[in-house]
Amino acid sequence: MIIPVKWSDEGVLMLDQRLLPTEEKWLTLKTYTEVADGIRDMVVRGAPAIGVSTAYGIALGMRQFVGTNMVDFEDELDYICEVLFKTRPTAVNLGWAIDEMKKTFAKAKSESKSISEIKEILLERAKEIHDEDIEAQRLIADFGGELIEDNSTVLTHCNAGALATGGVWGTALGVIRGAVNQGKNIHVFADETRPYLQGARLTAWELHEDNIPVTLITDNMSGYMMKKGRVQAVVVGSDRIAANGDVANKIGTYMVAVLAKEHGIPFYVAAPLSTVDLNCPTGDQIPIEERDSREVTHIKDIQLAPEGIGIGNPAFDVTPNHLVTAIITEKGVARAPYTESLKKQFEE
Ligand code: MRU
Repeated sequence: MIIPVKWSDEGVLMLDQRLLPTEEKWLTLKTYTEVADGIRDMVVRGAPAIGVSTAYGIALGMRQFVGTNMVDFEDELDYICEVLFKTRPTAVNLGWAIDEMKKTFAKAKSESKSISEIKEILLERAKEIHDEDIEAQRLIADFGGELIEDNSTVLTHCNAGALATGGVWGTALGVIRGAVNQGKNIHVFADETRPYLQGARLTAWELHEDNIPVTLITDNMSGYMMKKGRVQAVVVGSDRIAANGDVANKIGTYMVAVLAKEHGIPFYVAAPLSTVDLNCPTGDQIPIEERDSREVTHIKDIQLAPEGIGIGNPAFDVTPNHLVTAIITEKGVARAPYTESLKKQFEE
């Protein structure tokens, strides 16, 4: 059972995903700035895992507040949230976790709790956010597993597994685990996912650990596999889903969705409601992170491209809602028109 982020009295424990699959090393992050660096540097990554880590980072930072003045305490909370907010812009789970922690503080303050009580309450809420995330993935696995037919091959892009969430299931890999648990015979194609290779390094590792048959392919092989009838469904996760069902996910997802449409293959998105941003009307408003060009020009220390050329490295793209067959959340399966179906899930 993979749980990539944990709380301990020494700090936030993170499985260092930069080293997988060759090394399994845990880091203890002892301050909120170390947690922020861990998120920025991809020690932990994947939208729900970023949300859980953010909540723990806030709880950790506030626990270390020294003082007795509530105004100073609140200023410190705002400052820590701002530092964490700036780490990665696309995954809305980060902002969602900050809002949850701020709401928790506001409620405790309105109930005249003391600073030491509020420190405990914030930590309890962070642990709850973690538990709720695992529970959401379990439900996504159940609902999503039903959509996958027996004896099928499912293609996935990036890593939307236990590593990318609070743990155990994952979103896209949760759907696959759900189908396997329902007794279905499932094979997975994992896109390697250049430039950061989350598919090769993380998805292939996770599935192999769970004895789920996985075949690694490079990103430019998916069209061939689809044309040959070797893919029956695509399942991916998301970093932010706009109110109209446009889906931001790892760069290359859009290309896979277009190919799936061309070949009549269902394209499913699995994500908890903490990834759905009803304040974002369409995918056009989703901020897309641009990452270091070195991720494209190098693999570890090996240089792949000449120096002095232009490099593009957008980390995410947006798949328009008309290419999305269904969105699976912990509330069930939403279908077009998403503006209505997603909103309804929040109201349930
Ligand atoms: O840059 P990353 O590795 O954080 O990107 C991760 C993804 O794009 C995932 O597909 C997404 O966060 C969903 S994770 C359940």
